[in-house]
Amino acid sequence: MHVLHVVGARPNFMKASPVMRALQAYPGVRQTLVHTGQHYDANMSDVFLKQLEMPAPDVNLGVGSRSHARQTAEIMIGFEQVVLDRRPDVVLVYGDVNSTIATALVCAKLQVRTAHVEAGVRSNDRSMPEEINRVVTDCLADLLLTPSEDAEQNLRAAGVDPSRIRFVGNVLIDSLVRLLPAARAVKDPRIPEQFGLVTLHRPSNVDDSVNLKSLLETLVEINNDLRIVFPVHPRTRQRLGALGSEFKDLLLLDPMPYIEFLSIQSRATVVLTDSGGVQAETTFLGVPCLTLRSNTEWPVTVQLGSNVLVGNDRQRLRQELLRIREGRVREASIPPLWDGHTGQRIAKIVCEIATSSAPSCLS
Ligand code: UD1
Repeated sequence: MHVLHVVGARPNFMKASPVMRALQAYPGVRQTLVHTGQHYDANMSDVFLKQLEMPAPDVNLGVGSRSHARQTAEIMIGFEQVVLDRRPDVVLVYGDVNSTIATALVCAKLQVRTAHVEAGVRSNDRSMPEEINRVVTDCLADLLLTPSEDAEQNLRAAGVDPSRIRFVGNVLIDSLVRLLPAARAVKDPRIPEQFGLVTLHRPSNVDDSVNLKSLLETLVEINNDLRIVFPVHPRTRQRLGALGSEFKDLLLLDPMPYIEFLSIQSRATVVLTDSGGVQAETTFLGVPCLTLRSNTEWPVTVQLGSNVLVGNDRQRLRQELLRIREGRVREASIPPLWDGHTGQRIAKIVCEIATSSAPSCLS
């Protein structure tokens, strides 16, 4: 049986790694890794493959940065040929990036069985490019592997046939569980004893310079009381460059490798973020998280976990920070099936469907 995995952007690597590792336990399974090249900087891609002990990609489409339409189209053109040449039995696509929607669409047209890992997740905000990617990918994929109970409910509410859905848990947590001991051993001399960790890359926060400037001014104010550590995503770095050097008091770092980032995430007093993955990871770690967005695709992190949505409301942000600084931290628990074994559950299901009766048009 031939399973093909698609990765393209930073968050995909932590999700594909546990599934690839779990499939190694099945002797009849051959695996191919395709990297679209959506992320291409060494510190956004290569270092993740290395730390997660993933094999070198069999194919790299090298699409790089483009407008959404061009990036999606170039991935489709390159990936169509890969599927025609390699004839996988099943293709696994991960998360909600442009590489996910592009390759799911190619597979649907070629009638190759596709499984979407992290299906059903919704922010219900169609101004986010990722939300469009999630909705369309879930329409196209044959098998929808959900990370949380709300994701399953979203799919059922959209009228998806329940036979296509399996609740498997959050695969991102598998990589965290595996590499947390290595992360705990890392000592970075630049990082203070107490600090607030910031990550920002959503277009809604960083593409509008007025918004970004106001957010940075708030971070400078917070920095007077609690040192701000801010590994800067390349997209955000471009925007910061245009704003000048007035934010130099913040500890601005390059994007960090997975283990080093996990290390500081697990030690942070509080995390301020607009990332989906970081909301999930802080909930697992029990680290207080303030999400700088008005909605979340991970409502379970707010209901059960350590996450609070503060949106654009600076007063709310200050109040929540004060609460955390005074030790008034919310009771948080880990959502069901965020247990480090999701990759194994996915591997078992994928092997079952890949050998099921319905043939693909390529076989
Ligand atoms: C993408 C995903 C987002 C994910 C994020 C994680 C989509 C629509 N968005 O957003 O869901 O949370 O990855 O990082 O797929 N750049 C570099 N080096 C790189 C990659 C990007 O310098 O290796 C710069 C480029 O100038 C590019 C910009 O960052 O224009 C944005 O990259 P892009 O892949 O378009 O989207 P992200 O913002 O990274």
